[in-house]
Amino acid sequence: MSAEPLEIHLDDQDLGRSLRRDVRVGLSAGQKWLPPKWFYDTRGSELFDEITRLPEYYPTRAERAVLAERAAEIAELTAAKTLIELGSGSSEKTRLLLDAFVRAGGLGTFVPLDVSVSALRGSTTTLAADYPGLRVRGIVGDFTRHLDRLPTGGRRLVIFLGGTVGNLLPVERAEFLARMRAALEVGDWLLVGADLVKDPAVIVPAYDDAAGVTAEFNRNVLRVLNRELGADLDPEAFAHVALWDPEHEWIEMRLRAERPMRVRVLDLDVGFAAGEDLRTEVSAKFRPEGITGELDSAGFRAERFWTDPDGLFGVTLARAG
Ligand code: AVJ
Repeated sequence: MSAEPLEIHLDDQDLGRSLRRDVRVGLSAGQKWLPPKWFYDTRGSELFDEITRLPEYYPTRAERAVLAERAAEIAELTAAKTLIELGSGSSEKTRLLLDAFVRAGGLGTFVPLDVSVSALRGSTTTLAADYPGLRVRGIVGDFTRHLDRLPTGGRRLVIFLGGTVGNLLPVERAEFLARMRAALEVGDWLLVGADLVKDPAVIVPAYDDAAGVTAEFNRNVLRVLNRELGADLDPEAFAHVALWDPEHEWIEMRLRAERPMRVRVLDLDVGFAAGEDLRTEVSAKFRPEGITGELDSAGFRAERFWTDPDGLFGVTLARAG
């Protein structure tokens, strides 16, 4: 089957409006920040794919190892009719699940949801060609806003991979999981990938690779602002910083102004002192009891928790109770 036309819940106007709001709030804050979703224009999505192949970036490989080992079990346990992927990107690892579901029979529809139209165009086209028996319905949307637009009916499995759940701050995470639960029926399933707490000597290089790909990915958000908002930020005047926060057990990516700057963005006149940071991402790392506890609090029952052989990355299969 060819992919169905993308279902657009986030058009250019919405995107523009929320980008402007985020920029206005984030760049006028005392500690400047921007939400990580603005990394992912076409170039940013390509850079992220490149990150997933870096020697230092272990989460993708570790999660893939879990999925390769457990895909058949996930297909059997959940017996899902509809597989929904939040923040799907290229859906590359999802193929392991799709293969298992095709072998088991019974899966009818795959629904990838992402803010990136370019990533969805690519993934839905190739997946529809590679899985001819599957209905592929891509949704352009934001998983923090559009959970009420997910297809209903039939047993559903929602997957949220890669550790993207760690991009949400604890309060946002609780809200997200509660909304996720409200969007599901009792008996539906949720599969969540979460990067685990470990020696920062392993985590930090994953966010500060020797080849500088993550640094380019980080600076890409400034290029997005320049293009979309006509800003005049100089990406080369910001240094890439990856900082482990031991108290919160998360990594922060920041862009550090290397000299004092004044920049015009929207109607704002934004001043950066030399050495001032703009936080561009939080990527939380989890303890097993932390992630299963958060799922339980949101009205799920964590039924399985798996890690890769090295214990780097955790995948939890939970059921809406
Ligand atoms: C896509 C959010 C899971 O936090 O590891 C990779 C994004 N940032 N390198 C992560 C990212 C820097 C990634 N997630």
